[in-house]
Amino acid sequence: MRPKVIVYKKVEPAIAAYLRQWCDVVLFDALDERTLPDFYRELEDAEGLLGSGLRIDNELLDRAPRLKIVSNISVGYDNLDIPAMSSRGVMATNTPDVLSDTVADLMIGLMLAVARRIPELDLYVKAGEWKSPAAPGLFGVDVHHKTLGIIGMGRIGAAIAKRAYHGFDMNILYHNRSRNADAERLYQASYTSLEELCRNADFICLMAPLTPDTVNLIGEKEFRLMKQTAIFVNGSRGATVDEAALVRALREGEIRGAGLDVFQTEPLGEKHPFQNMANVVTVPHIGSATAETRMKMAEYAAENLVLGLQGKVPPALLNRE
Ligand code: DGY
Repeated sequence: MRPKVIVYKKVEPAIAAYLRQWCDVVLFDALDERTLPDFYRELEDAEGLLGSGLRIDNELLDRAPRLKIVSNISVGYDNLDIPAMSSRGVMATNTPDVLSDTVADLMIGLMLAVARRIPELDLYVKAGEWKSPAAPGLFGVDVHHKTLGIIGMGRIGAAIAKRAYHGFDMNILYHNRSRNADAERLYQASYTSLEELCRNADFICLMAPLTPDTVNLIGEKEFRLMKQTAIFVNGSRGATVDEAALVRALREGEIRGAGLDVFQTEPLGEKHPFQNMANVVTVPHIGSATAETRMKMAEYAAENLVLGLQGKVPPALLNRE
């Protein structure tokens, strides 16, 4: 019998067609109050799940007794309770590598946007306020030749370091669970404690994955250590930062600005303090969101899913035992 899989995120028709060669496919463009009852009913005999962001924990696993694999269309997998999945023999997979360059591009873009005040000055021009040559009140700060501190020197962190070192002549500091010999050799990156990184970096880029150990990794203490001219960029997950502490640090001029792709609550509420801060550049969790990369991620995730259901080892298996 063909396995049944549920795709709970909108995917290109080519992805659904690929899956249909091997599986019976049930598609949900999104999960919300309206679609959840149908989704739960379909889960009862589903063997595979493909999508991103859905919390997979014991409660959901209880509803899915036949589940064999959950394939995330993302590199981050903080939505997966891996021990719970492993204890039931359910495979977990993600999509590393294919998005590293795309996410790194956005992080550099956020650094530039905040330092050179691009969104703010775009609004200034479009509001008809540009009447004379730009005066010092509109000046930004340089990115090139500054010190960049990268927290989380995995594949994405290394792709950021590569751009910063080769493209912007930046001096690279990093903090990570373990040393990254390649980054040290290729980009002259210096390993430091988190405190030293916060003290010495002009730009601080947070890329550490969200785990129980990295919740609120950057909070009051770290913002106080940063230079008053520091620009903080977050491309990991909102929960790795104490957001209230970040708001306070920005308001009180403890740091110069922030570029944020991720937030504690997504989508960001209309009344959130960031909405009115000219020194904060926000984007709606688009780190990997280019047409090409999202396609590659969906292809990778679909391959992981099919291989897992065929009894093979998916290339991006997270719970190898
Ligand atoms: C990921 O893949 O985890 C990214 O956050 C998606 O943009």
